[in-house]
Amino acid sequence: MVKTQYINSDETIFNDASALLRLNKNILLKGPTGSGKTKLAETLSETIETPMYQVNCSVDLDAESLLGFKTIQTNSEGQQEIVFIDGPVIKAMKEGHILYIDEINMAKPETLPILNGVLDYRRKLTNPFTGEVVKAEPGFNVIAAINEGYIGTLPMNEALKNRFVVIQVDYIDGDTLGNVIKEQSQLDDDNLISRIIKFNEDLRTMTKQGQISEEAASIRALIDLSDLATIMPIERAIQRTIIDKLEDEREQQAIINAVELNF
Ligand SMILES: Nc1ncnc2c1ncn2[C@@H]1O[C@H](COP(=O)(O)OP(=O)(O)OP(=O)(O)O)[C@@H](O)[C@H]1O
Ligand SMILES: [Mg+2]
Repeated sequence: MVKTQYINSDETIFNDASALLRLNKNILLKGPTGSGKTKLAETLSETIETPMYQVNCSVDLDAESLLGFKTIQTNSEGQQEIVFIDGPVIKAMKEGHILYIDEINMAKPETLPILNGVLDYRRKLTNPFTGEVVKAEPGFNVIAAINEGYIGTLPMNEALKNRFVVIQVDYIDGDTLGNVIKEQSQLDDDNLISRIIKFNEDLRTMTKQGQISEEAASIRALIDLSDLATIMPIERAIQRTIIDKLEDEREQQAIINAVELNF
């Protein structure tokens, strides 16, 4: 299968992100769920041919999940010894790879300050578990992603946010969306794809008017919807991928109206 890439008619998104990596700046990708943040990071990593380590944040994220942990191993002489297994942050630093920190605003505010030295000009960390001073190799870069305002997220600590340059990643639309649907779903009926794009435009308008929440029609949902549309009527595909995820009856009704209008 051909590897799909992040695309956007606004080329500043991808171009600025690659330029920021060359400048060794930390990038904060900000945008709603399913807007292509992870895809963008993966595409950047492939383009500059630098592998990427990933950390998924949650309230349980602790120093061990970032830096690594001690464990007992049997060495070649059959003796047991305590060794430290490097975690994603230290691996990325030592190997000069990209570190992708997903949902950075889900982590407890006290966990991330251990990364402050890694994230500023020092690019250095003293491993609290071993005392080792780790210096990042050339090529090391940090990309983080946030969905602002979602349940479970916290406002990002200012000192942390201050260390990043922000790139806003919004949902794509129009022909770009059509290309993504063609490349990443099973659907290849041009007529139906253009009606899905039009339907999606109507949803965006309703979002702007405050009638439905922004993530109702994420690109992820639209890809699911397009796949389902190859095996069931479009109305039911929309029901399963968009409408039934909403809890508010008025939002559901607004989308049903848009379905009736477009299909
Ligand atoms: N601009 C885009 N170009 C190519 N693919 C895209 C684009 N936007 C979204 N997609 C596709 O939509 C799906 C969701 O994208 P992705 O997982 O990158 O979203 P995300 O912003 O990381 O979401 P989350 O915040 O939930 O992690 C993927 O299948 C991805 O390939
Ligand atoms: Mg993601």
